Amino acid sequence: MTALPEPADLGSQLAYWDGVGATKTFTHPVDHDWLAGVRRDARVLDYGCGYGRVMAELAERGFTDVSGVDLSPALIERGRRSRPDLEFAVLESPPGLERAPASVDLVLLFAVLTCVPDDAGQRALVAELRRVLAPGGLLYVSEPVRQDDERNRSRYAAHAERFGTPYGVFTTDDGAVCRHHDLPSLRGLLSDFEPVRERTIDVTTMNGHRSQAVQLLVRLRPEAA
Ligand SMILES: C[S@@+](CC[C@H](N)C(=O)[O-])C[C@H]1O[C@@H](n2cnc3c(N)ncnc32)[C@H](O)[C@@H]1O
Repeated sequence: MTALPEPADLGSQLAYWDGVGATKTFTHPVDHDWLAGVRRDARVLDYGCGYGRVMAELAERGFTDVSGVDLSPALIERGRRSRPDLEFAVLESPPGLERAPASVDLVLLFAVLTCVPDDAGQRALVAELRRVLAPGGLLYVSEPVRQDDERNRSRYAAHAERFGTPYGVFTTDDGAVCRHHDLPSLRGLLSDFEPVRERTIDVTTMNGHRSQAVQLLVRLRPEAA
């Protein structure tokens, strides 16, 4: 059985993402119609890019300035092997980005907040994305939301009882500590952004379960830039 990560490591869980996590298939779909109005030379950053699945889709649709960062060297290596033409970098000290303020036009954040179970870690991540986004920049978030089936309810309750974590945090069968948000708290986390598009979808999780997810396209409010 995989050991639980130390509490201080919950914001990154590098051992998980560099181990079994690096063998997974990620599936959250991109709605390319949402990005139809974005210039093809927009500066695009995929935060928590994994092996570059989403970056590859954007490059294939004509985006010319796409780069991705991830805390896992193993996933970045996998991405570089499959798409040597794309620009990958390992995040040495997440969520800190080696980017100037206001230097990115579009950030993709696909199934990443779920890997950062605590409120402070999530707020720090969103604040860093806000720092690098240009005024009027877009953030496209895809996140699994809190599920109402028995398997999920019991693992949320078990984790909360054992570790005192917010309801919605749980341990996967293979040892990652993840979080499922309710939609209002996710919207609250993004309160410096104005909504552009939103949809609810069904996805297959990296462990093969069906789950409901939400996608939000939001724009940085001018006063928050
Ligand atoms: C479920 S995968 C999704 C990967 C990719 N976004 C996709 O949809 O194909 C989550 C990714 O987030 C990365 N990750 C987890 N916590 C992170 C953090 N604190 N900072 C940066 N990346 C993180 C993991 O290494 C993993 O690649």
